[in-house]
Amino acid sequence: MPKTTVSVIKADVGGWAGHSTVHPALIEAGNKVLGKGAEKGIITDYYVTHVGDDLELIMSHTKGTDNKKVHELAWSVFEEGTRVAKELKLYGAGQDMLADAFSGNVKGLGPGVAEMEFTERKGEPVVVIMMDKTEPGAFNLPVFRMFADPFNTAGLVIDPTMHDGFVFEVWDIEEHRKVFLRTPEEVYDLLALIGAKSRFVIKRVFPKKGKLPEDEPAAVVSTEKLYQIAGEYVGKDDPVGIVRAQSGLPALGEVIEPFAFPYLVSGWMRGSHNGPLMPVGLCNAKCSRFDGPPRAVALGFQVANANLGQPLDLFDDPAYDGARKQATKIADYMRRHGPFEPHRLPLADMEYTTLPKVMVKLRDRFKKV
Ligand code: F6R
Ligand code: MG
Ligand code: MG
Repeated sequence: MPKTTVSVIKADVGGWAGHSTVHPALIEAGNKVLGKGAEKGIITDYYVTHVGDDLELIMSHTKGTDNKKVHELAWSVFEEGTRVAKELKLYGAGQDMLADAFSGNVKGLGPGVAEMEFTERKGEPVVVIMMDKTEPGAFNLPVFRMFADPFNTAGLVIDPTMHDGFVFEVWDIEEHRKVFLRTPEEVYDLLALIGAKSRFVIKRVFPKKGKLPEDEPAAVVSTEKLYQIAGEYVGKDDPVGIVRAQSGLPALGEVIEPFAFPYLVSGWMRGSHNGPLMPVGLCNAKCSRFDGPPRAVALGFQVANANLGQPLDLFDDPAYDGARKQATKIADYMRRHGPFEPHRLPLADMEYTTLPKVMVKLRDRFKKV
Protein backbone atom coordinates (compact mmCIF):
# COMPACT_ATOMS: atom_id res chain seq x y z
CA MET A 1 0.00 0.00 0.00
CA PRO A 2 1.60 3.31 -1.05
CA LYS A 3 1.53 6.19 1.42
CA THR A 4 -1.36 8.63 1.27
CA THR A 5 -0.90 12.36 0.82
CA VAL A 6 -3.43 15.03 1.71
CA SER A 7 -2.75 18.36 0.01
CA VAL A 8 -4.72 21.49 0.81
CA ILE A 9 -3.93 24.31 -1.61
CA LYS A 10 -5.85 27.58 -1.47
CA ALA A 11 -5.97 30.95 -3.13
CA ASP A 12 -8.16 34.02 -3.37
CA VAL A 13 -8.80 34.41 -7.08
CA GLY A 14 -11.75 36.76 -6.77
CA GLY A 15 -14.31 37.74 -4.15
CA TRP A 16 -18.12 37.87 -4.22
CA ALA A 17 -19.15 40.47 -3.24
CA GLY A 18 -16.09 42.48 -2.25
CA HIS A 19 -13.86 40.20 -0.18
CA SER A 20 -16.66 38.32 1.58
CA THR A 21 -17.02 34.96 -0.08
CA VAL A 22 -16.42 32.80 -3.16
CA HIS A 23 -18.89 32.78 -6.06
CA PRO A 24 -20.45 29.34 -6.77
CA ALA A 25 -19.05 29.56 -10.32
CA LEU A 26 -15.53 29.27 -8.89
CA ILE A 27 -16.45 26.17 -6.89
CA GLU A 28 -17.88 24.75 -10.10
CA ALA A 29 -14.67 25.58 -11.97
CA GLY A 30 -12.66 23.88 -9.20
CA ASN A 31 -14.78 20.73 -9.37
CA LYS A 32 -14.48 20.60 -13.15
CA VAL A 33 -10.70 20.92 -13.26
CA LEU A 34 -10.03 18.61 -10.30
CA GLY A 35 -12.53 16.10 -11.73
CA LYS A 36 -10.40 15.91 -14.88
CA GLY A 37 -7.28 15.62 -12.71
CA ALA A 38 -8.83 12.65 -10.93
CA GLU A 39 -9.79 11.03 -14.24
CA LYS A 40 -6.18 11.36 -15.35
CA GLY A 41 -5.04 9.74 -12.09
CA ILE A 42 -3.13 12.81 -10.84
CA ILE A 43 -5.22 12.80 -7.65
CA THR A 44 -7.42 10.11 -6.13
CA ASP A 45 -10.11 12.23 -4.50
CA TYR A 46 -10.91 15.89 -3.89
CA TYR A 47 -13.27 18.29 -2.19
CA VAL A 48 -13.61 21.88 -3.35
CA THR A 49 -14.87 24.41 -0.84
CA HIS A 50 -14.27 27.91 0.44
CA VAL A 51 -13.87 29.92 3.60
CA GLY A 52 -14.56 33.60 3.11
CA ASP A 53 -13.04 34.67 -0.19
CA ASP A 54 -10.57 31.78 -0.37
CA LEU A 55 -11.06 28.92 -2.78
CA GLU A 56 -9.91 25.78 -0.96
CA LEU A 57 -8.80 22.64 -2.79
CA ILE A 58 -8.60 19.59 -0.56
CA MET A 59 -6.96 16.76 -2.49
CA SER A 60 -5.84 13.23 -1.67
CA HIS A 61 -3.40 11.16 -3.71
CA THR A 62 -0.38 8.90 -3.50
CA LYS A 63 2.22 11.18 -5.09
CA GLY A 64 3.82 12.66 -1.97
CA THR A 65 4.22 16.29 -0.94
CA ASP A 66 5.53 18.97 -3.34
CA ASN A 67 4.49 16.88 -6.32
CA LYS A 68 4.79 18.87 -9.54
CA LYS A 69 1.70 17.36 -11.19
CA VAL A 70 -0.52 17.94 -8.13
CA HIS A 71 0.68 21.52 -7.74
CA GLU A 72 0.25 22.15 -11.45
CA LEU A 73 -3.31 20.84 -11.24
CA ALA A 74 -4.08 23.23 -8.36
CA TRP A 75 -2.50 26.08 -10.31
CA SER A 76 -4.68 25.28 -13.30
CA VAL A 77 -7.79 25.50 -11.06
CA PHE A 78 -6.69 28.96 -9.97
CA GLU A 79 -6.01 29.96 -13.58
CA GLU A 80 -9.43 28.77 -14.66
CA GLY A 81 -10.94 30.40 -11.56
CA THR A 82 -9.24 33.67 -12.45
CA ARG A 83 -10.62 33.45 -15.98
CA VAL A 84 -14.16 32.93 -14.64
CA ALA A 85 -13.64 35.64 -12.00
CA LYS A 86 -12.59 38.12 -14.68
CA GLU A 87 -15.60 37.23 -16.80
CA LEU A 88 -17.95 37.83 -13.84
CA LYS A 89 -15.88 40.86 -12.76
CA LEU A 90 -15.52 39.34 -9.29
CA TYR A 91 -13.62 41.52 -6.89
CA GLY A 92 -9.83 41.31 -7.03
CA ALA A 93 -9.88 38.66 -9.77
CA GLY A 94 -6.59 36.76 -9.76
CA GLN A 95 -5.54 38.44 -6.48
CA ASP A 96 -3.26 35.67 -5.18
CA MET A 97 -1.80 34.71 -8.57
CA LEU A 98 1.52 36.45 -8.13
CA ALA A 99 3.29 34.70 -11.00
CA ASP A 100 2.35 34.67 -14.67
CA ALA A 101 3.25 31.04 -15.13
CA PHE A 102 3.60 27.85 -13.11
CA SER A 103 7.17 26.85 -12.38
CA GLY A 104 7.09 23.44 -10.73
CA ASN A 105 5.58 24.22 -7.31
CA VAL A 106 2.87 26.67 -6.21
CA LYS A 107 4.93 27.71 -3.17
CA GLY A 108 6.06 31.28 -3.55
CA LEU A 109 3.60 31.90 -6.39
CA GLY A 110 0.80 33.15 -4.16
CA PRO A 111 -1.37 30.20 -3.07
CA GLY A 112 -1.15 28.78 0.47
CA VAL A 113 -0.19 25.13 0.93
CA ALA A 114 -0.44 22.50 3.68
CA GLU A 115 0.45 18.94 2.76
CA MET A 116 1.26 15.76 4.62
CA GLU A 117 2.21 12.26 3.55
CA PHE A 118 1.47 9.36 5.88
CA THR A 119 0.93 5.64 6.21
CA GLU A 120 -2.80 5.13 6.65
CA ARG A 121 -3.69 3.62 9.99
CA LYS A 122 -6.56 1.17 10.48
CA GLY A 123 -8.80 4.20 10.89
CA GLU A 124 -7.49 7.57 9.71
CA PRO A 125 -9.46 10.60 10.90
CA VAL A 126 -8.10 13.83 9.38
CA VAL A 127 -9.30 17.34 10.18
CA VAL A 128 -8.77 20.15 7.67
CA ILE A 129 -9.00 23.58 9.29
CA MET A 130 -9.27 26.65 7.07
CA MET A 131 -9.28 30.29 8.17
CA ASP A 132 -10.06 33.55 6.40
CA LYS A 133 -9.02 37.13 7.27
CA THR A 134 -6.05 36.13 9.38
CA GLU A 135 -2.43 34.98 9.21
CA PRO A 136 -0.55 31.65 9.66
CA GLY A 137 0.32 32.51 13.30
CA ALA A 138 -3.40 32.21 14.08
CA PHE A 139 -2.78 28.44 14.23
CA ASN A 140 -0.18 28.76 17.02
CA LEU A 141 -2.60 28.88 19.92
CA PRO A 142 -4.97 26.07 18.88
CA VAL A 143 -2.19 23.72 17.69
CA PHE A 144 -0.29 24.28 20.93
CA ARG A 145 -3.41 23.50 22.91
CA MET A 146 -4.17 20.35 20.86
CA PHE A 147 -0.74 18.81 21.35
CA ALA A 148 0.67 20.32 24.54
CA ASP A 149 -2.06 21.64 26.83
CA PRO A 150 -3.53 19.06 29.21
CA PHE A 151 -6.38 21.46 30.02
CA ASN A 152 -7.46 21.08 26.38
CA THR A 153 -6.33 17.58 25.54
CA ALA A 154 -7.34 15.13 28.22
CA GLY A 155 -5.38 12.43 26.39
CA LEU A 156 -2.09 14.05 27.47
CA VAL A 157 -3.05 13.03 31.02
CA ILE A 158 -5.25 9.99 30.52
CA ASP A 159 -3.72 8.12 27.57
CA PRO A 160 -0.32 6.63 28.49
CA THR A 161 0.65 6.56 24.80
CA MET A 162 0.47 10.37 24.76
CA HIS A 163 2.58 10.97 27.88
CA ASP A 164 5.83 11.26 25.92
CA GLY A 165 4.48 14.38 24.25
CA PHE A 166 5.22 15.83 20.86
CA VAL A 167 7.86 17.66 18.82
CA PHE A 168 7.01 21.09 17.38
CA GLU A 169 8.72 22.42 14.26
CA VAL A 170 8.64 26.21 14.53
CA TRP A 171 9.55 28.55 11.68
CA ASP A 172 10.91 32.04 12.07
CA ILE A 173 9.21 33.55 9.03
CA GLU A 174 11.32 36.69 9.05
CA GLU A 175 14.78 35.14 9.34
CA HIS A 176 13.75 32.05 7.34
CA ARG A 177 15.05 29.48 9.84
CA LYS A 178 13.46 26.75 11.92
CA VAL A 179 13.83 25.04 15.29
CA PHE A 180 12.46 21.78 16.76
CA LEU A 181 11.16 21.97 20.33
CA ARG A 182 10.01 19.05 22.46
CA THR A 183 7.06 19.06 24.80
CA PRO A 184 6.40 18.79 27.68
CA GLU A 185 10.06 19.40 28.58
CA GLU A 186 10.52 22.57 26.50
CA VAL A 187 7.02 23.95 26.79
CA TYR A 188 8.11 27.35 28.10
CA ASP A 189 10.72 27.81 25.34
CA LEU A 190 8.08 26.90 22.81
CA LEU A 191 5.62 29.43 24.24
CA ALA A 192 8.31 32.12 24.33
CA LEU A 193 8.52 31.82 20.56
CA ILE A 194 5.01 31.06 19.37
CA GLY A 195 3.42 33.75 21.54
CA ALA A 196 4.98 36.12 18.97
CA LYS A 197 2.61 34.80 16.36
CA SER A 198 3.39 37.26 13.58
CA ARG A 199 6.99 36.03 13.53
CA PHE A 200 7.21 32.45 14.83
CA VAL A 201 4.73 29.95 13.43
CA ILE A 202 4.17 26.28 14.08
CA LYS A 203 4.82 24.51 10.79
CA ARG A 204 4.47 20.86 11.83
CA VAL A 205 3.97 18.69 14.89
CA PHE A 206 5.47 15.20 15.15
CA PRO A 207 4.74 12.53 17.73
CA LYS A 208 7.78 11.35 19.60
CA LYS A 209 8.96 7.92 18.46
CA GLY A 210 6.56 5.03 18.44
CA LYS A 211 3.13 6.41 17.72
CA LEU A 212 3.47 6.88 13.96
CA PRO A 213 6.24 5.80 11.63
CA GLU A 214 9.11 8.18 12.20
CA ASP A 215 8.96 11.54 10.44
CA GLU A 216 5.25 11.33 9.71
CA PRO A 217 3.68 14.53 11.02
CA ALA A 218 0.49 14.66 13.03
CA ALA A 219 -0.19 18.26 12.00
CA VAL A 220 0.93 20.74 9.35
CA VAL A 221 0.10 24.41 8.76
CA SER A 222 0.56 26.63 5.71
CA THR A 223 3.09 29.38 6.38
CA GLU A 224 3.05 31.39 3.18
CA LYS A 225 3.18 35.12 3.80
CA LEU A 226 1.93 36.82 0.67
CA TYR A 227 3.43 40.17 1.47
CA GLN A 228 6.87 38.61 1.85
CA ILE A 229 6.48 37.06 -1.55
CA ALA A 230 5.20 40.16 -3.28
CA GLY A 231 7.09 42.72 -1.18
CA GLU A 232 3.96 44.73 -0.53
CA TYR A 233 0.46 44.21 0.77
CA VAL A 234 -1.45 41.99 -1.61
CA GLY A 235 -4.40 40.23 -0.14
CA LYS A 236 -3.68 38.11 2.89
CA ASP A 237 -2.13 34.94 4.12
CA ASP A 238 -5.31 33.25 5.22
CA PRO A 239 -3.93 29.94 6.51
CA VAL A 240 -4.94 26.27 6.36
CA GLY A 241 -3.92 23.32 8.50
CA ILE A 242 -4.24 19.54 8.46
CA VAL A 243 -4.39 17.51 11.68
CA ARG A 244 -4.57 13.74 12.12
CA ALA A 245 -6.58 12.56 15.10
CA GLN A 246 -7.14 9.63 17.51
CA SER A 247 -5.16 6.54 18.56
CA GLY A 248 -2.27 8.19 20.42
CA LEU A 249 -2.93 11.59 18.82
CA PRO A 250 -5.45 14.14 20.08
CA ALA A 251 -9.01 12.86 19.68
CA LEU A 252 -11.07 14.63 17.02
CA GLY A 253 -12.92 16.47 19.77
CA GLU A 254 -9.59 17.57 21.28
CA VAL A 255 -8.47 18.86 17.89
CA ILE A 256 -11.47 21.17 17.58
CA GLU A 257 -11.86 22.05 21.28
CA PRO A 258 -9.46 25.07 21.18
CA PHE A 259 -11.90 26.81 18.82
CA ALA A 260 -14.60 26.93 21.50
CA PHE A 261 -12.65 29.99 22.71
CA PRO A 262 -12.83 32.84 20.17
CA TYR A 263 -9.23 33.99 20.73
CA LEU A 264 -7.85 37.16 19.15
CA VAL A 265 -6.07 36.96 15.82
CA SER A 266 -4.74 39.64 13.50
CA GLY A 267 -6.15 40.27 10.06
CA TRP A 268 -9.82 41.22 9.66
CA MET A 269 -10.54 44.51 7.87
CA ARG A 270 -7.68 45.50 5.52
CA GLY A 271 -5.46 42.89 7.17
CA SER A 272 -4.94 45.54 9.87
CA HIS A 273 -7.07 44.64 12.87
CA ASN A 274 -7.14 42.31 15.83
CA GLY A 275 -10.40 40.48 16.30
CA PRO A 276 -11.93 37.21 17.50
CA LEU A 277 -11.69 34.04 15.43
CA MET A 278 -15.25 32.80 14.95
CA PRO A 279 -15.73 29.06 14.35
CA VAL A 280 -18.50 28.55 11.76
CA GLY A 281 -20.14 25.88 9.65
CA LEU A 282 -19.74 26.16 5.89
CA CYS A 283 -23.11 27.92 5.62
CA ASN A 284 -21.63 30.86 7.55
CA ALA A 285 -18.16 30.82 6.02
CA LYS A 286 -18.55 34.32 4.68
CA CYS A 287 -16.87 37.43 6.03
CA SER A 288 -19.43 40.22 6.11
CA ARG A 289 -19.29 42.40 9.24
CA PHE A 290 -16.33 44.78 8.87
CA ASP A 291 -15.03 42.22 6.35
CA GLY A 292 -15.06 39.58 9.04
CA PRO A 293 -14.78 38.80 11.82
CA PRO A 294 -12.04 36.26 10.96
CA ARG A 295 -13.56 32.81 10.54
CA ALA A 296 -12.51 29.20 10.86
CA VAL A 297 -14.12 26.14 9.30
CA ALA A 298 -13.12 22.57 10.21
CA LEU A 299 -13.95 19.58 8.02
CA GLY A 300 -13.50 16.05 9.27
CA PHE A 301 -12.62 13.24 6.86
CA GLN A 302 -12.25 9.54 7.47
CA VAL A 303 -9.51 8.89 4.90
CA ALA A 304 -9.57 5.42 3.33
CA ASN A 305 -7.21 4.12 0.63
CA ALA A 306 -6.25 7.67 -0.34
CA ASN A 307 -9.92 8.67 -0.62
CA LEU A 308 -11.27 11.57 1.38
CA GLY A 309 -14.88 10.44 1.39
CA GLN A 310 -17.57 12.81 2.61
CA PRO A 311 -16.60 15.78 4.77
CA LEU A 312 -18.19 16.38 8.15
CA ASP A 313 -18.77 20.09 8.84
CA LEU A 314 -17.50 20.10 12.43
CA PHE A 315 -18.35 23.63 13.61
CA ASP A 316 -21.90 23.27 12.28
CA ASP A 317 -22.81 22.29 15.82
CA PRO A 318 -24.89 24.11 18.46
CA ALA A 319 -22.08 23.35 20.91
CA TYR A 320 -20.16 26.15 19.15
CA ASP A 321 -23.05 28.67 19.42
CA GLY A 322 -21.57 30.00 22.65
CA ALA A 323 -18.22 30.67 20.95
CA ARG A 324 -20.00 32.47 18.11
CA LYS A 325 -21.97 34.62 20.56
CA GLN A 326 -18.86 35.42 22.52
CA ALA A 327 -17.02 36.26 19.29
CA THR A 328 -19.81 38.69 18.40
CA LYS A 329 -19.51 40.35 21.82
CA ILE A 330 -15.74 40.62 21.44
CA ALA A 331 -16.21 42.02 17.93
CA ASP A 332 -18.51 44.73 19.34
CA TYR A 333 -15.99 45.58 22.03
CA MET A 334 -13.00 45.68 19.69
CA ARG A 335 -14.84 47.70 17.04
CA ARG A 336 -15.52 50.47 19.54
CA HIS A 337 -11.78 51.24 19.51
CA GLY A 338 -12.09 52.30 15.87
CA PRO A 339 -8.65 53.16 14.48
CA PHE A 340 -6.91 52.79 17.85
CA GLU A 341 -4.57 50.03 18.90
CA PRO A 342 -4.94 47.31 20.05
CA HIS A 343 -7.90 46.92 17.66
CA ARG A 344 -5.74 48.28 14.88
CA LEU A 345 -2.47 46.37 14.63
CA PRO A 346 0.74 47.87 16.06
CA LEU A 347 2.80 49.99 13.65
CA ALA A 348 5.37 47.28 12.93
CA ASP A 349 2.63 44.98 11.62
CA MET A 350 1.12 47.81 9.54
CA GLU A 351 4.33 48.03 7.50
CA TYR A 352 2.93 45.94 4.68
CA THR A 353 -0.49 47.59 4.56
CA THR A 354 -1.44 50.80 2.80
CA LEU A 355 -0.67 52.86 5.95
CA PRO A 356 2.98 53.69 5.01
CA LYS A 357 1.61 55.52 1.95
CA VAL A 358 -0.34 57.79 4.31
CA MET A 359 2.78 58.37 6.43
CA VAL A 360 4.80 59.46 3.37
CA LYS A 361 2.47 62.41 2.92
CA LEU A 362 3.34 63.75 6.38
CA ARG A 363 7.07 63.02 6.23
CA ASP A 364 8.26 66.56 5.43
CA ARG A 365 6.04 68.22 7.99
CA PHE A 366 7.76 66.71 11.02
CA LYS A 367 10.03 69.12 12.96
CA LYS A 368 12.69 68.12 15.50
CA VAL A 369 11.67 68.31 19.18
C1 F6R B 1 -8.88 41.37 1.96
C2 F6R B 1 -9.58 41.95 3.07
C3 F6R B 1 -10.40 43.19 2.98
C4 F6R B 1 -9.79 44.32 2.19
C5 F6R B 1 -10.68 45.54 2.22
C6 F6R B 1 -10.18 46.66 1.32
O1 F6R B 1 -8.60 40.02 2.19
O2 F6R B 1 -9.53 41.39 4.08
O3 F6R B 1 -10.71 43.63 4.28
O4 F6R B 1 -8.50 44.62 2.66
O5 F6R B 1 -11.98 45.20 1.78
O6 F6R B 1 -10.03 46.14 0.03
P1 F6R B 1 -9.64 47.03 -1.22
O7 F6R B 1 -8.41 47.77 -0.85
O8 F6R B 1 -9.46 46.03 -2.29
O9 F6R B 1 -10.81 47.94 -1.47
MG1 MG C 1 -10.02 38.90 -1.40
MG1 MG D 1 -9.13 35.61 2.17
